[in-house]
Amino acid sequence: MLNNKNILLIISGGIAAYKSLELIRGLRKERANVRCILTKNGEKFVTPMSLAALSEHKVYTDLWSLKDEREMGHIRLSREADLIVIAPASANLIAKMAHGLADDLASTCLLASDKPIMIAPAMNPMMWNHPATQNNMKILLQRDIIQIEPKSGEMACGETGIGRMSEPDDILSSIKDFFSEKPLKNMKAIVTSGPTYEAIDPVRFLGNRSSGKQGHAIATALIQAGAHVHYITGPTHLPHPKGATIIEIESAEEMLAHVEKNLPADLFIGAAAVCDWTVETDHLQKIKKKDNLTPPQLNLKENPDILKKVSLSSKRPQLVIGFAAETENLNNNAKDKLKHKNCDWIVGNEISPEQNVFGNSENQVCLFQYTEDRKEIIQTDLPRMTKIKIAQKLVNEIIHYFETIQKDNRNECTNPSLNVVPYGSQ
Ligand code: CTP
Repeated sequence: MLNNKNILLIISGGIAAYKSLELIRGLRKERANVRCILTKNGEKFVTPMSLAALSEHKVYTDLWSLKDEREMGHIRLSREADLIVIAPASANLIAKMAHGLADDLASTCLLASDKPIMIAPAMNPMMWNHPATQNNMKILLQRDIIQIEPKSGEMACGETGIGRMSEPDDILSSIKDFFSEKPLKNMKAIVTSGPTYEAIDPVRFLGNRSSGKQGHAIATALIQAGAHVHYITGPTHLPHPKGATIIEIESAEEMLAHVEKNLPADLFIGAAAVCDWTVETDHLQKIKKKDNLTPPQLNLKENPDILKKVSLSSKRPQLVIGFAAETENLNNNAKDKLKHKNCDWIVGNEISPEQNVFGNSENQVCLFQYTEDRKEIIQTDLPRMTKIKIAQKLVNEIIHYFETIQKDNRNECTNPSLNVVPYGSQ
């Protein structure tokens, strides 16, 4: 994947600089060409000699070296790169980038370049959390710089918190991901995830056991395939999937409103465990025990069926996928839901207590898909596997679906302007 890709690796000052050696080895193993710029502070942690030995290229350290300028030149150095990676990125270099300073070779190359930039920050937790650094990062993210988030843990300085540089393997994965094909590029996907909470009063609610892990994994796999994901999620304990547009909701009504607001889209996946009922009466104050000699009666009314509404909408996405969470009769119930909710595919999810899937990283599902003429249903049973793997398999199936449509379209019409244009690209 990285064969002959030109990576310009900038190593700034920080103890994590030693990890850059491992990163270079990984990049070379993947046959990438690696050129290194080492800042003056970086030189305090690793030597040009070790970087040169591993990268098999001269290492650049000085903006004012006439010899280097003649041979390569700082402008060429930055322009010939397919990707610039800064690992570790110190608070100082991040600040310089944010404000356009160019007082050494690294910062000058960064300012002189129009190439994509990926940064792996590494610093003391206080420095990372400082409003100055956070504001600088915000500026850089607005410029579409790709951030490899620092991790939490014990630091070399003895303090604990967020600031450790990501491991070389993770940085390498992000680099591979950057160069990987994006078959769902320009596609817009809406994914619902997590539970919904239906308020009983300002304190109590009706909810369910959904952790949101499966929806999260699906959103992540879609993003990796290049889709623009609008992630509408009920309350969970998970960090949000990186790269998605995040919409946090509580109730089914709110989820529906945001789904409708975000239509049209190319793809809808209803992975949320939406509460089927909500409480009829609005209690603006906490229901008090003493006011009720008997426990209060909760009158429930049915919530809107979001999946069904999307399927029947005039703005119906090309592909609508729902879930069927079942404790029994999975096959029949899933097929019924496929028909009654008018969607294209249903992911049948076994959620009986024996399967123990709530909050687990593994899941047990099978896929039910209508044939093209919608006369038959194809069932594919999957073995128990991680929610991440299930998401990847589902996304591969989605990629295949859209590729087939595009191929059919190309075969059918000779006028290319009539081909399917992904909604997200319009
Ligand atoms: N769903 C929805 N809106 C609802 C209820 C469910 O969009 N009000 C969606 C879910 O996101 C899922 C599918 O419908 O994609 C099936 O949800 P599930 O909980 O399995 O079934 P229900 O339709 O709620 O039916 P039942 O509870 O009777 O199994």
